[in-house]
Amino acid sequence: MKKYIVLIFTSALFLTACNHNPEKTYWDYMGDFDMYYSKAYESYSPNKYLKDGTTLQEPVQGTVSREFIPYPFKDKFGDKVKAGKLLKNPFQPTKENLERGKMKYNIYCAVCHGQNGKGNGPLTKLKRNGKKIYPVPPADLTSDFIKQKPDGEIYHVITMGSAVMGAHASQIKPDDRWKIVLYIKNGLK
Ligand code: HEC
Repeated sequence: MKKYIVLIFTSALFLTACNHNPEKTYWDYMGDFDMYYSKAYESYSPNKYLKDGTTLQEPVQGTVSREFIPYPFKDKFGDKVKAGKLLKNPFQPTKENLERGKMKYNIYCAVCHGQNGKGNGPLTKLKRNGKKIYPVPPADLTSDFIKQKPDGEIYHVITMGSAVMGAHASQIKPDDRWKIVLYIKNGLK
Protein backbone atom coordinates (compact mmCIF):
# COMPACT_ATOMS: atom_id res chain seq x y z
CA MET A 1 0.00 0.00 0.00
CA LYS A 2 2.74 2.40 1.04
CA LYS A 3 4.43 1.79 -2.29
CA TYR A 4 1.30 2.88 -4.17
CA ILE A 5 0.98 6.07 -2.15
CA VAL A 6 4.59 6.98 -2.95
CA LEU A 7 4.01 6.16 -6.63
CA ILE A 8 0.85 8.28 -6.84
CA PHE A 9 2.55 11.11 -5.02
CA THR A 10 5.64 11.17 -7.26
CA SER A 11 3.65 10.89 -10.48
CA ALA A 12 1.44 13.73 -9.29
CA LEU A 13 4.59 15.79 -8.78
CA PHE A 14 5.81 15.02 -12.31
CA LEU A 15 2.43 15.80 -13.84
CA THR A 16 2.19 19.17 -12.14
CA ALA A 17 5.73 19.93 -13.31
CA CYS A 18 4.65 19.22 -16.89
CA ASN A 19 1.69 21.47 -16.46
CA HIS A 20 3.71 24.56 -15.57
CA ASN A 21 2.18 27.68 -17.00
CA PRO A 22 4.84 30.36 -17.54
CA GLU A 23 2.17 33.10 -17.61
CA LYS A 24 1.06 32.40 -14.08
CA THR A 25 2.82 33.42 -10.87
CA TYR A 26 3.34 30.39 -8.61
CA TRP A 27 4.50 30.22 -5.04
CA ASP A 28 8.26 30.80 -4.53
CA TYR A 29 9.94 28.17 -2.40
CA MET A 30 12.45 30.57 -0.84
CA GLY A 31 11.10 33.81 -2.24
CA ASP A 32 13.29 36.84 -1.66
CA PHE A 33 15.78 34.92 0.49
CA ASP A 34 17.31 33.00 -2.36
CA MET A 35 18.50 34.11 -5.78
CA TYR A 36 15.17 33.82 -7.59
CA TYR A 37 15.29 37.48 -8.45
CA SER A 38 18.87 38.27 -9.35
CA LYS A 39 19.91 41.85 -8.68
CA ALA A 40 22.74 41.73 -11.17
CA TYR A 41 24.75 44.86 -11.90
CA GLU A 42 25.07 46.06 -15.49
CA SER A 43 28.69 45.92 -16.71
CA TYR A 44 29.07 49.67 -16.98
CA SER A 45 27.08 50.68 -13.89
CA PRO A 46 28.58 52.17 -10.72
CA ASN A 47 29.16 49.70 -7.91
CA LYS A 48 29.53 50.66 -4.29
CA TYR A 49 30.95 47.27 -3.27
CA LEU A 50 34.05 47.41 -5.44
CA LYS A 51 37.09 49.55 -4.62
CA ASP A 52 37.15 51.73 -7.71
CA GLY A 53 33.37 52.08 -7.73
CA THR A 54 32.75 50.46 -11.12
CA THR A 55 31.26 47.04 -11.90
CA LEU A 56 33.47 46.12 -14.82
CA GLN A 57 36.90 45.19 -13.45
CA GLU A 58 40.28 45.00 -15.14
CA PRO A 59 41.67 41.46 -15.50
CA VAL A 60 44.00 40.40 -12.70
CA GLN A 61 47.60 41.37 -13.43
CA GLY A 62 49.40 38.74 -15.46
CA THR A 63 46.17 37.33 -16.91
CA VAL A 64 46.66 35.77 -20.34
CA SER A 65 43.53 35.38 -22.41
CA ARG A 66 42.75 32.02 -24.00
CA GLU A 67 44.48 31.33 -27.30
CA PHE A 68 46.89 34.22 -26.72
CA ILE A 69 50.52 33.21 -26.90
CA PRO A 70 52.85 35.82 -25.39
CA TYR A 71 55.45 36.93 -27.94
CA PRO A 72 58.96 36.26 -26.64
CA PHE A 73 60.87 38.86 -28.70
CA LYS A 74 61.32 42.59 -28.19
CA ASP A 75 61.08 45.49 -30.62
CA LYS A 76 64.79 45.72 -31.47
CA PHE A 77 66.90 44.76 -34.46
CA GLY A 78 68.74 41.85 -32.86
CA ASP A 79 65.42 40.28 -31.95
CA LYS A 80 64.18 40.42 -35.53
CA VAL A 81 67.16 38.31 -36.59
CA LYS A 82 66.61 35.94 -33.66
CA ALA A 83 62.91 35.57 -34.54
CA GLY A 84 63.97 34.79 -38.10
CA LYS A 85 66.21 31.97 -36.88
CA LEU A 86 63.93 30.50 -34.21
CA LEU A 87 60.37 30.87 -35.48
CA LYS A 88 59.04 28.49 -38.09
CA ASN A 89 55.95 29.11 -40.16
CA PRO A 90 53.44 26.49 -38.95
CA PHE A 91 51.43 26.69 -42.18
CA GLN A 92 51.90 25.37 -45.71
CA PRO A 93 51.22 27.54 -48.77
CA THR A 94 47.95 25.79 -49.61
CA LYS A 95 45.37 27.58 -51.77
CA GLU A 96 43.21 28.21 -48.70
CA ASN A 97 46.04 29.67 -46.59
CA LEU A 98 47.24 31.90 -49.43
CA GLU A 99 43.72 33.21 -49.97
CA ARG A 100 43.38 33.98 -46.29
CA GLY A 101 46.78 35.71 -46.33
CA LYS A 102 45.79 37.74 -49.38
CA MET A 103 42.54 38.86 -47.77
CA LYS A 104 44.34 40.03 -44.62
CA TYR A 105 47.18 41.60 -46.60
CA ASN A 106 44.75 43.64 -48.65
CA ILE A 107 43.04 44.88 -45.49
CA TYR A 108 46.10 45.73 -43.38
CA CYS A 109 49.14 46.11 -45.59
CA ALA A 110 48.07 47.22 -49.06
CA VAL A 111 47.30 50.81 -47.96
CA CYS A 112 51.06 51.35 -47.71
CA HIS A 113 52.76 48.49 -49.55
CA GLY A 114 50.24 48.45 -52.43
CA GLN A 115 48.12 45.51 -53.59
CA ASN A 116 51.03 44.47 -55.82
CA GLY A 117 53.52 44.77 -52.90
CA LYS A 118 55.69 47.32 -54.71
CA GLY A 119 55.41 49.88 -51.90
CA ASN A 120 53.13 52.27 -53.78
CA GLY A 121 49.87 52.02 -51.80
CA PRO A 122 47.42 54.95 -51.62
CA LEU A 123 48.80 56.29 -48.31
CA THR A 124 52.22 56.90 -49.91
CA LYS A 125 50.60 59.44 -52.28
CA LEU A 126 48.82 61.50 -49.63
CA LYS A 127 50.06 65.09 -49.40
CA ARG A 128 49.45 68.01 -47.04
CA ASN A 129 50.68 71.50 -48.00
CA GLY A 130 52.57 69.96 -50.88
CA LYS A 131 54.49 67.58 -48.61
CA LYS A 132 54.06 63.81 -48.38
CA ILE A 133 52.34 62.78 -45.14
CA TYR A 134 54.22 59.43 -45.19
CA PRO A 135 57.62 60.37 -46.58
CA VAL A 136 59.40 57.05 -45.88
CA PRO A 137 58.72 54.64 -48.75
CA PRO A 138 57.38 51.24 -47.62
CA ALA A 139 59.59 48.27 -48.45
CA ASP A 140 59.07 46.65 -51.86
CA LEU A 141 57.76 43.25 -50.80
CA THR A 142 58.49 41.72 -54.20
CA SER A 143 62.22 42.51 -53.91
CA ASP A 144 64.91 39.87 -53.47
CA PHE A 145 65.76 41.52 -50.14
CA ILE A 146 62.36 40.50 -48.79
CA LYS A 147 62.15 37.20 -50.67
CA GLN A 148 65.32 35.88 -49.06
CA LYS A 149 64.20 36.88 -45.55
CA PRO A 150 63.25 33.99 -43.25
CA ASP A 151 59.49 33.81 -42.58
CA GLY A 152 60.10 34.55 -38.89
CA GLU A 153 61.62 37.96 -39.68
CA ILE A 154 58.58 39.08 -41.64
CA TYR A 155 56.38 37.67 -38.89
CA HIS A 156 58.39 39.72 -36.40
CA VAL A 157 57.96 42.89 -38.49
CA ILE A 158 54.17 42.39 -38.60
CA THR A 159 54.07 41.72 -34.85
CA MET A 160 56.45 44.44 -33.65
CA GLY A 161 56.63 46.90 -36.53
CA SER A 162 59.80 48.10 -38.20
CA ALA A 163 61.23 51.60 -37.82
CA VAL A 164 58.40 53.89 -38.97
CA MET A 165 56.04 51.00 -39.71
CA GLY A 166 53.71 50.36 -36.77
CA ALA A 167 53.10 47.02 -35.02
CA HIS A 168 50.07 45.02 -36.17
CA ALA A 169 49.93 42.56 -33.26
CA SER A 170 46.69 43.96 -31.88
CA GLN A 171 44.87 43.85 -35.22
CA ILE A 172 46.04 40.58 -36.76
CA LYS A 173 45.92 37.19 -35.03
CA PRO A 174 49.13 35.10 -35.06
CA ASP A 175 47.74 32.50 -37.53
CA ASP A 176 46.77 35.23 -39.97
CA ARG A 177 50.21 36.89 -39.65
CA TRP A 178 51.83 33.63 -40.77
CA LYS A 179 49.41 33.37 -43.68
CA ILE A 180 50.24 36.93 -44.76
CA VAL A 181 53.91 35.90 -44.70
CA LEU A 182 53.09 32.93 -46.97
CA TYR A 183 51.24 35.23 -49.34
CA ILE A 184 54.20 37.65 -49.55
CA LYS A 185 56.76 34.85 -49.96
CA ASN A 186 54.61 33.35 -52.69
CA GLY A 187 54.98 36.54 -54.73
CA LEU A 188 51.59 38.02 -53.67
CA LYS A 189 49.75 35.56 -55.90
C1 HEC B 1 51.33 52.84 -42.53
C2 HEC B 1 52.09 52.20 -43.57
C3 HEC B 1 52.41 50.73 -43.47
C4 HEC B 1 51.57 49.67 -43.24
C5 HEC B 1 50.08 49.69 -42.97
C6 HEC B 1 52.40 48.48 -43.30
N1 HEC B 1 53.69 48.81 -43.54
FE1 HEC B 1 55.25 47.54 -43.76
N2 HEC B 1 56.53 49.09 -43.93
C7 HEC B 1 56.16 50.41 -44.00
C8 HEC B 1 57.35 51.24 -44.15
C9 HEC B 1 57.37 52.76 -44.26
C10 HEC B 1 58.44 50.35 -44.16
C11 HEC B 1 59.89 50.70 -44.25
C12 HEC B 1 60.35 51.01 -42.85
C13 HEC B 1 61.60 50.36 -42.52
O1 HEC B 1 61.59 49.19 -42.11
O2 HEC B 1 62.62 51.02 -42.67
C14 HEC B 1 57.89 49.02 -44.03
C15 HEC B 1 58.66 47.86 -44.01
C16 HEC B 1 58.14 46.59 -44.09
C17 HEC B 1 58.93 45.38 -44.22
C18 HEC B 1 60.45 45.31 -44.31
C19 HEC B 1 61.03 45.26 -42.93
C20 HEC B 1 62.49 44.96 -42.91
O3 HEC B 1 62.84 43.96 -42.29
O4 HEC B 1 63.26 45.71 -43.51
C21 HEC B 1 58.05 44.34 -44.28
C22 HEC B 1 58.39 42.86 -44.42
C23 HEC B 1 56.73 44.90 -44.14
N3 HEC B 1 56.80 46.25 -44.02
C24 HEC B 1 55.57 44.14 -44.15
C25 HEC B 1 54.32 44.67 -43.87
C26 HEC B 1 53.13 43.86 -43.73
C27 HEC B 1 53.07 42.36 -43.92
C28 HEC B 1 52.10 44.70 -43.43
C29 HEC B 1 50.68 44.35 -43.10
C30 HEC B 1 50.48 43.51 -41.98
C31 HEC B 1 52.65 46.05 -43.39
N4 HEC B 1 53.99 45.99 -43.66
C32 HEC B 1 51.91 47.18 -43.12
C33 HEC B 1 54.90 50.92 -43.94
C34 HEC B 1 53.74 50.18 -43.66
